[in-house]
Amino acid sequence: MKTNLLKPFETNSGVIITCFYENEKELSDVQKALDEKFSGVIKNNIVKNFEGKFNETLTFPLENGVKIIAAGLGKKEELTLNKLREALSKTISAAKKYMKDNILSVEFIKKEGFCLKGTAYTTVIAAGIANYKFDKYKTKKDEKIETLEILSLDFDEKIVEGIKKADILNDSMNFTKDLVFESAEIMTPDKVAQIAKNLADEYKIEAKIYDKNQLKEMNFNAFLAVGQGSIQEPKFIHLTYKSENPKKKIILIGKGITFDSGGLDIKPPSSMLTMKTDMTGCATVLGVMKAICEIKPDIELHVMSALCENMPSGSSYKVGDVITSKSGKTIEVDNTDAEGRLTLADVLTYADEFAPNEVIDIATLTGAVVVALGNNITGIMGNNQDMIDKFKNVADILGEPVWQLPIYDDMMEGLKSDIADMKNTGPRGAGSSVAGRFLQNYTKSKNWLHIDIAGTAYIDKPYKELQKGATGVMVRTLTDYIMK
Ligand code: BES
Ligand code: MN
Ligand code: ZN
Repeated sequence: MKTNLLKPFETNSGVIITCFYENEKELSDVQKALDEKFSGVIKNNIVKNFEGKFNETLTFPLENGVKIIAAGLGKKEELTLNKLREALSKTISAAKKYMKDNILSVEFIKKEGFCLKGTAYTTVIAAGIANYKFDKYKTKKDEKIETLEILSLDFDEKIVEGIKKADILNDSMNFTKDLVFESAEIMTPDKVAQIAKNLADEYKIEAKIYDKNQLKEMNFNAFLAVGQGSIQEPKFIHLTYKSENPKKKIILIGKGITFDSGGLDIKPPSSMLTMKTDMTGCATVLGVMKAICEIKPDIELHVMSALCENMPSGSSYKVGDVITSKSGKTIEVDNTDAEGRLTLADVLTYADEFAPNEVIDIATLTGAVVVALGNNITGIMGNNQDMIDKFKNVADILGEPVWQLPIYDDMMEGLKSDIADMKNTGPRGAGSSVAGRFLQNYTKSKNWLHIDIAGTAYIDKPYKELQKGATGVMVRTLTDYIMK
């Protein structure tokens, strides 16, 4: 999808979306211009039949086949950019079927308090979300928007900036979603590593890919234990973007379990159903890297992921095994299904070697976070309250809700082992926090943030602008966060 900024009367599009506030009958400048082109249809017909309630829509066909679609934004004083994204995305989804030549046009909304860049960004992101469909395996494909037209009378550089940024983030989110939707049969550790390498080559950044033998030498023992039951070879990827004068060094770590069967502690069928998505953390940090390589901010960004499958077999790691992690700390395996924290532990230790200013890991880590926060709020925790607050602030602005879960030192009590330094699981309660507390042992960073997207990475029913399936959650928030 490419985005063009143009004046209302310049459009030849077959679908034009125009917006209304609840019970406000006065036309915007863009609507007045459209009315000149289409003989007053908005003023004479649409306004009279449309209340403008939030998420209300009305399709008005013109004689020449063009459809004017009214989108309700609700009460003017209650409209936020997050609500605008939702209303536009839903309307665009429904309007796609009317396109001619795969062109769709949307009125640019001007509202007091909305900056031009943010409004343009939100509008184009709304369209990008509406336009995504993983239809690789469908013999019949959906119609896709190829050209999105933003209709505006102003041609401010800020609008162009917002469009450009949104085009970049849409591409990154789509890249992430494609990886998540793909079957585990295809999206193996080796395949993800190749994709990471291609990304690095495309943007001429550094990529290090380590195989099993190298990982043995590097003492990634907890990671290797998780992967040892699978015929797929584990891979560790480390990509580095570095501007000329980086202001800070950030490490992003994504959980990269390409399939989580649970291992010998095998999952029941219903829990295994979506476990091809257990590499969403990895797909997310690669998506962020792609965006950063396009935007080119003054930072140094490292993206890391330990990729493997968690499978039951004769060579699987077993409960009761004691693993010496890369850090030297020993771990008694209490449950082979708590594999993510084992792989992440070694990567957190590896990350310490680079003396980063901040370390952030993102993982589909615990079913407990779904119990605590559901499928639309992401769990965050860490050891630095300023970082957590700053992250939440960015996430709220972008409409990706997050909520902090507590980490207490005495949670280590539950992880006590009789024969090793700790176990990988503890008692049932506060599972997400305990997993977070486990991870905290493996980083020396005082600026560490842990993001648990087990509930939000992949959803089984649509929510606001989000469609079913892979959501691309946190690609936008992480990108903005690390540039701030
Ligand atoms: N990958 C799962 C967590 C998960 C659950 C992701 C639901 C997405 C949706 C993780 O590896 C896991 O199995 N966690 C266990 C930990 C338990 C054994 C302590 C869980 O949450 O049940
Ligand atoms: Mn698991
Ligand atoms: Zn897992």
